[in-house]
Amino acid sequence: MTPEQNDLLCRVEGEAPMGKLMRQHWLPACMIEDVAEPDGTPLRVRLLGENMVVFRNTEGRIGALDELCPHRRASLAFGRNEECGLRCLYHGWKFDVDGNAVDMSSEPVDAKLRGTMKTKAYPVVESAGFVWVWMGDPENVIPFSPPNWSAAPAEKISIVKMHGGCNWAQVLEGSIDSAHSSSLHSSNMPTATEVSGSTATDTAWLRPSADKAPKIEVQKTPFGFRYAAIRKPIIDADKQDYVRMTLFQAPFTVHIPSNDQYHLSQMLVPIDDVNTMFYWIAWHPTKGISQDAWRKFCGAEIGKDVEPVTFKKRRNAENNYLQDRALMKAGDFTGIYGIPCQDMAMWESMGPIADRSEDLLGSSDKAIFTFRTQMYRAAQAVQKGEPALGAVEPRVPLAKLMSFEGMVPKGDDWRLINVSEEERRLTGVFADKEEVEDLADAVS
Ligand code: FES
Ligand SMILES: [Fe+2]
Repeated sequence: MTPEQNDLLCRVEGEAPMGKLMRQHWLPACMIEDVAEPDGTPLRVRLLGENMVVFRNTEGRIGALDELCPHRRASLAFGRNEECGLRCLYHGWKFDVDGNAVDMSSEPVDAKLRGTMKTKAYPVVESAGFVWVWMGDPENVIPFSPPNWSAAPAEKISIVKMHGGCNWAQVLEGSIDSAHSSSLHSSNMPTATEVSGSTATDTAWLRPSADKAPKIEVQKTPFGFRYAAIRKPIIDADKQDYVRMTLFQAPFTVHIPSNDQYHLSQMLVPIDDVNTMFYWIAWHPTKGISQDAWRKFCGAEIGKDVEPVTFKKRRNAENNYLQDRALMKAGDFTGIYGIPCQDMAMWESMGPIADRSEDLLGSSDKAIFTFRTQMYRAAQAVQKGEPALGAVEPRVPLAKLMSFEGMVPKGDDWRLINVSEEERRLTGVFADKEEVEDLADAVS
């Protein structure tokens, strides 16, 4: 990519087309647990370079307002959250969750501003562990489509949250890069002969393949794309393939292959051009992993591994992520604790915005290539005034999207696995069961 093309792909602030594309989707502002308490501490949130304050009022309703008070621009994040509103400390103006100024203590009772004054309030939805906001045109709010992890009850949704000091797109390219897991995470995902699919223990995910060079196949869809990383399994390599299928859901959600205990999704949310909030969701309708165990496994415990509120890492670039060379000599592949922190070391080392005019893609980077071209074209389309990728009706219901991981008999088509009826209809290829079987025959 040229530096100009790279900017179009990566930049989200102000009038950047990619930011405009994202504003046509509902965006996760924070976890529900960040603002769980009525009248609790308001949370500063920065999204696409815009600052807001999120708070829960006395009645439990959530508000997301422009961070700065419309009076003289002091931060409402310092405000008093009480009696159904957020009161600015400077002169005492008070706002409800819809942005209405319900009190203007410094103004005379008959002042013109009273009763009409409003600050910017973003539409808000609470769903599946997150507070979602609409940052686009308030006249064109699209219906909220819950993510696939909404299939799990609240106590079976566990979330790792970690700040990344670099652009969202290089973080996302890590999420859709199946090949790196066989190297970077090899100590956390060791090969095991006794398993037939990804199997979670307290400390590792066992994997039934030692193949470090997967073959990548990609299928574009109306929501983004899905791809399969096809590896030789340890057992019966002549009869079956070990397939790990990942879904990219525009603009920044990825559903990666599950293990036997939980499903896995990630959101790589742009704070601004050079900072990203990394969310990793482990979920399951019945099994799952507890919130504490998940954060421990990932090395992302709040107050231990990451700072409260900001979620900045205690193992970071300044201290070389506490990389332990002695541990590496003893066999640990990276010497860095936890899968997300290993990733962060790679992503942040690329610089604030990775220079894609200098990198060299190989055949295992087919999904990365697809992401770049698809999102680049999608940003160009938005620039021309066309609707955003994934926001065009009729949409594939996001709740139905599922990744896949497991053995697939040689000759079977991975594209037919975990495709919802709606998606088949919208994609137009797999209209009914008969056609599915025909196509499967054709492929084999
Ligand atoms: S700046 Fe907020 S009330 Fe004056
Ligand atoms: Fe990774």
